[in-house]
Amino acid sequence: MNQLSPEEKNNLPRHVALIMDGNGRWAKSRRMPRLFGHRNGVENVRAVVNTAKEVGVPYITLYAFSTENQNRPSDEKSGLMKLLEEFLKKELSSMMEDGIRLRAIGDLSGLPDFAQKIVEDTIEQTQENENWNLTLALNYGSRQEVLKAVSKYAQNHPGSANVPTWEQFSPYLETAGLPDPDLIIRTSGEFRLSNFLLLQAAYAEIFVSPLHWPDFGRDAFLEALADYARRERRFGKTSEQIQPSVHIL
Ligand code: IPE
Ligand code: IPE
Ligand code: MG
Repeated sequence: MNQLSPEEKNNLPRHVALIMDGNGRWAKSRRMPRLFGHRNGVENVRAVVNTAKEVGVPYITLYAFSTENQNRPSDEKSGLMKLLEEFLKKELSSMMEDGIRLRAIGDLSGLPDFAQKIVEDTIEQTQENENWNLTLALNYGSRQEVLKAVSKYAQNHPGSANVPTWEQFSPYLETAGLPDPDLIIRTSGEFRLSNFLLLQAAYAEIFVSPLHWPDFGRDAFLEALADYARRERRFGKTSEQIQPSVHIL
């Protein structure tokens, strides 16, 4: 797919969250080490972020490293962290030019010092940018995020037995300030969330691509956006309530 139609452009998600899976399998199919897959995966991040800018999706969140990925071999983990550093160093100037604000969710204190530092520095340097929003989920796990939010909420409301509303509770999540994802894309044909944005995804549309992440480029992303544009999001209502004019009888 090369272009979105005007109708598809009118129905774009505001926030797309991507579970970038399959780098290892992509490399294995080429008889290359896993890190070769990760390196090509990082290249693909550029393609997807550029496409989001091209069509006008203001919020992109990328699942880059999960809490559970801490259990991977240490050479893979350190390779990933070096790729992260390289990526942020290289991208800073274009992030400033394009007005991209970087955010991170996840427990950054569990990253090596150099990685934590470059992430924090880039967040600080881009904090005034307001055209586009790129969020990296790093050492992120949704359950851990929720448990921390519960604890912080309780600290701020000592002795209260009231059940908070979602509006009262959600600012305690790490995604405070971000809209809920409208579309979650997972590559590599896996139909699971792997501890990603479990509460925020309550009404997200889900799209699974068979492609491995390094192959999920501009065209595949446009396909996913076009597929999203054709869906009817009902949020518990009936189809007739959503599109009354189409259901006159
Ligand atoms: C996704 O690719 C990248 C990370 C989880 C960091 P994988 O490394 O999970 O690739 P597969 O699933 O082994 O193919
Ligand atoms: C999910 O991929 C995490 C990221 C993409 C960072 P995994 O490859 O870690 O997920 P599982 O283990 O197959 O569920
Ligand atoms: Mg995987």
